[in-house]
Amino acid sequence: MIQLKSPEQLQSMRRAGLVVGETLQTLRAAVAPGVTTEELDDLARQCIEDAGATPSFLGYHGYPKTICASVNEEIVHGIPRPDKRLADGDIISIDCGAILDGWHGDSAITVAVGEIDPVLKELLSITEESMWAVFAQARLGMRMRDLGAIVERVATPAGFGIVDHYGGHGIGTEMHQDPHVLNHGRGSRGPKLVEGMALAIEPMLTVGDPETLELPDGWTVITADRSYAAHFEHTFTMTADGPWVLTALDGGAAKLAEYGVTVATSENLARP
Ligand code: MF3
Ligand code: CO
Repeated sequence: MIQLKSPEQLQSMRRAGLVVGETLQTLRAAVAPGVTTEELDDLARQCIEDAGATPSFLGYHGYPKTICASVNEEIVHGIPRPDKRLADGDIISIDCGAILDGWHGDSAITVAVGEIDPVLKELLSITEESMWAVFAQARLGMRMRDLGAIVERVATPAGFGIVDHYGGHGIGTEMHQDPHVLNHGRGSRGPKLVEGMALAIEPMLTVGDPETLELPDGWTVITADRSYAAHFEHTFTMTADGPWVLTALDGGAAKLAEYGVTVATSENLARP
């Protein structure tokens, strides 16, 4: 069942989204050679708790940590560890979720550690753009699969693999809700995008093949060919006045301006 949110409930989701956005901003600044993924996890937990929120991943189906920290060939769900130390040239995807007043925010970034290979810079940039293209090009009435097609149209010409066993999702009073949002667009299918929906859009792209393997820890998903992978995610909602990116500190304003799109601010959302 798809949970539709009232404007007031979206304001609550915005507050949860800001906790996640601020936490990720802190983590991005903390990423450096020599830092362990466990240290990043401790920092995330502290940021979330200082904001009066609760980490949503901790204990989710037994998940043991606050963030997912996936390095290099790890795509998603890497578990932070005290012996996992970042090195110059690595890329790290940090996925973070928090609950505030019962509402969830979910967002992920992939960050360069020191100086990275130009191909990896391109991977990070295309993965992030494939996500922003969804927010810029989404229209009310589009089907979920049309959103996936937007990701595909950015990722495929760049030659990157699209991981398609995992994808985006509805989000609200639970982290994972209907509908599922695939990162490819075969067929114009799926529920329509309507006002009041909140969706996490999360493209995962690889330098090589998109096939995945799960490590024996039961969580970490890696590329079968060990090629490096990137993952970006934001929680957003679509209004008659445009998109609103709930986990972006500026609601998505700066990035969407590059696409000539104006975000729906909290003010115009509340308009009758
Ligand atoms: N945040 C992830 C997602 O984007 C899920 C994290 S799984 C967890 O859907 F177990 F770590 F919580
Ligand atoms: Co998610």
